[in-house]
Amino acid sequence: ASIKVAVLIGSLRKESFNRRLAYAVERLAPAELSFEHVRIDDLPLYNQEFDHDYPPVCQQLKQQIKAADALLFVTPEYNRSIPGVLKNAVDVASRPYGSNAFAGKPGAVIGTSVGTTGSAMAQQHLRNVLAYLDVVVLPQPEVFFKFSDGLIDEQGHISVESTQKFLQRFVDRYVAWLHKQL
Ligand code: FNR
Repeated sequence: ASIKVAVLIGSLRKESFNRRLAYAVERLAPAELSFEHVRIDDLPLYNQEFDHDYPPVCQQLKQQIKAADALLFVTPEYNRSIPGVLKNAVDVASRPYGSNAFAGKPGAVIGTSVGTTGSAMAQQHLRNVLAYLDVVVLPQPEVFFKFSDGLIDEQGHISVESTQKFLQRFVDRYVAWLHKQL
C-alpha cells in the first residue's frame, strides 16, 4: 500500500532552501511514499468571517490535507518563529471549528535556515501548534541545519555525504514510524 504525504513548505520563494530540502527528502524516500506539495501562496489571510462560508480555495486546501495519510512540514525560521505564510495556512486548514483538517494525522517537522540555529526555534513553535491540532509529530530525529551554498541543488541532489546520510537516517525513521502510526 502506498502512503500519501502532504508537504507544506514555509517559504514562498522559488529558490527556497527549504523546498530544496523537501526535494532531497523525497529523493531519499522509498517508492511507497508519494509526495504532494500543498499550495499555500494563493490563500487569503485567514478571517474568522470565513467560517460561515469557507472560500473555495481554503476548502481545497483542507481537502488536500484530509486526503493525505501523513504530513511533512519543511520550514524556515522567520524572527525565531514560524513564517506567517505557513501559520496562515495552518490556521486556514484548522477551521471552521470542529473540522480541523490535520486531526489525527502523523507528521514530521524539519527545516533549514542560513543561521547556525537552522530553524530549530521555528520548528519548536510549530510542534507546539501541531500538538494542539492533534497531529502526532515524529519526536526524533530532529532535522535542522545551517544551509550553506550548494549543499542541496534545485532538484534535491545533496552534495555532502554526511548530510546525505543524516537525511537518509531521518527518512528511514520517518517511514518506519509512519508504518506504526497508520
Ligand atoms: C530570516 N532568516 C532567519 N534565519 C534564522 O536562522 N533565524 C531567524 O530568526 C531568521 N529570521 C528571518 C526573518 C525574515 C523575515 C527573513 C526573510 C529571513 C533567514 C532565513 O533563514 C533565510 O532567509 C532562509 O533562506 C529562508 O528559507 P528559504 O526561503 O530559503 O526556504
